[in-house]
Amino acid sequence: MDLPRHIAVIMDGNGRWAKKRLLPRSAGHRAGMKRMIGLAEHVFERGVRYCTLFALSTENLSRPREELEGLYALFREYFPRNMRTLKEKGIALRVIGERALLPADVVSLIAEGEAYTAGGGQGLLQLAIGYGGRQDILDAVNAAVRGGKEVTEAEFSALLSTGGIPDPDLLIRTGQELRISNFLLWQAAYSELYFTDVLFPDFSDRELDRALEAYARRERRFGKV
Ligand code: IPE
Ligand code: IPE
Ligand code: MG
Repeated sequence: MDLPRHIAVIMDGNGRWAKKRLLPRSAGHRAGMKRMIGLAEHVFERGVRYCTLFALSTENLSRPREELEGLYALFREYFPRNMRTLKEKGIALRVIGERALLPADVVSLIAEGEAYTAGGGQGLLQLAIGYGGRQDILDAVNAAVRGGKEVTEAEFSALLSTGGIPDPDLLIRTGQELRISNFLLWQAAYSELYFTDVLFPDFSDRELDRALEAYARRERRFGKV
């Protein structure tokens, strides 16, 4: 089976998952956090080398303070112990997004997690937190301008926060919406898109396998005949 090297996932639908169960949105985020951990494990077990998970967009940062605080609390609770798991499995972590917009202790945890898992040669997990595709492009443009000379596509790609790894082969969005919501705008230029109605906390290993099977059936032509 043709396997994507890099899978990116827009993890949407936590709030609606909770609402359907008459639970607060925070319960949906907790269920989503648990699923994210299981999913990341499954992705690498399947042999995929790069996985990028969209956890929080720049736009999400204007959600009510209480919801954001709940998300940061979940991060503080789950992040450290999962860094140990990643390290054991040889998976390196990279967090992409605007760190300056996150609480200082969350930024410290991220830096510690990245340092602790650095050098893991089995794969790379990219967590997008406070991430916006346009901002990523803008930062790269400004870096190029500072460099003082015109850049090629490959050089520009290297200036993005995702630099150094292949573009996503497969971009999955859970939770019914048919949009990109400012995720990997440059990098997804030729990604295969897979949209599912399944709300993220219900996006099981089986559902991921279904997406992988759909991917294997696609014919990627890259403009050729
Ligand atoms: C996705 O779930 C997680 C985040 C953006 C933090 P949502 O919170 O967007 O869930 P819905 O879309 O309201 O169901
Ligand atoms: C997209 O979900 C961002 C993440 C999943 C992190 P949203 O729920 O914020 O997307 P929109 O607002 O419905 O486009
Ligand atoms: Mg949503």
